Amino acid sequence: MSAVVEVEGLTKRFGEVTAVDELSFRVEQGQVYGLLGPNGAGKTTALRCLMGLERPSTGRTRLFGTEVAPGSPELFRVGAIIEQASFVPHLSGLRNLRLWWEAGGGRWADADLETALAVAQIDDAIDRKVKTYSQGMQQRLGFARALLGRPELLVLDEPTNGLDPAEIRVVRDLIHRLADEGRTVVFSSHHLSEVEQTCSHAVVVNHGRRVAEGTVASLIGGAGSVHVEVDDVARARAVLAALPEVTSVSSQGLGLNVEQRTGSRADLGAALVGAGIRVETLTTQNRLEEAFLVLMQATEPPGPTDRSAAQHGGTSR
Ligand SMILES: Nc1ncnc2c1ncn2[C@@H]1O[C@H](COP(=O)(O)OP(=O)(O)OP(=O)(O)O)[C@@H](O)[C@H]1O
Ligand SMILES: [Mg+2]
Repeated sequence: MSAVVEVEGLTKRFGEVTAVDELSFRVEQGQVYGLLGPNGAGKTTALRCLMGLERPSTGRTRLFGTEVAPGSPELFRVGAIIEQASFVPHLSGLRNLRLWWEAGGGRWADADLETALAVAQIDDAIDRKVKTYSQGMQQRLGFARALLGRPELLVLDEPTNGLDPAEIRVVRDLIHRLADEGRTVVFSSHHLSEVEQTCSHAVVVNHGRRVAEGTVASLIGGAGSVHVEVDDVARARAVLAALPEVTSVSSQGLGLNVEQRTGSRADLGAALVGAGIRVETLTTQNRLEEAFLVLMQATEPPGPTDRSAAQHGGTSR
């Protein structure tokens, strides 16, 4: 069976600027897939190419095994929020949804309004004018709009941009819910923790290029340190330092910081417990952050280039 999303050697140039450079990744059905990269990495451009809003310079993108162009039937199987979802402020949420749906040629009776509203948790506010909505509510209305067509795939460009922590949580729960229903979700983010908490798989992009790809666990496993607190620090240090995959052990606060080349934090726990040491804490905080920073540094070009400072034009549809 073909993947839900296939991106193969995708390159998109805007004049001198190479926004996306030989990018490849694939997303299987039911995955929550993250496109992680700093500002200007090419995330929006890649998603626009995926949705047929932008034509690749070279390479290709496929949805459900088919290359898409504007108007392709495969696009009806996708719900997308690319850039800020925009609404008519003086109309109600409901009126906005209906206008948008009908503008796309659909019959309002065919829209899956009930699910869209339930998943997006908009409730009574749907009858209020959109100008009275908070940014989080507008974002949720964007979700509702993307869900009207019962999409199998959701493509979301920075879905939590500009939201406060409570609103971010709602969006994260929403993505989990969609995944629980068996839908595939692809979203871009420059929030590492968000990708870590939400995605099963991710591709890390910098300057349009793929820097790393795989399960989030494997991406995190590639770098970073584990912090352990134990009842016998001296003995733990000896046990951990003797493990072949451990590259260094250093003291930090009451515990130890352990750098691992391979393996998981569970391996460390097992080794300590096996040696009769009591483990109080074993945390991997900010490991994706570390992995990400290491990857970004490793892929910086030698000269002073700042593509993110280049003009952000042509964002209208
Ligand atoms: N229509 C365009 N014309 C010219 N340059 C563009 C255009 N669209 C994007 N770019 C450039 O391509 C690069 C990638 O931009 P893109 O918006 O895809 O990055 P991004 O990862 O989505 O960034 P952000 O996190 O800031 O949203 C940037 O240097 C940007 O200025
Ligand atoms: Mg973007």
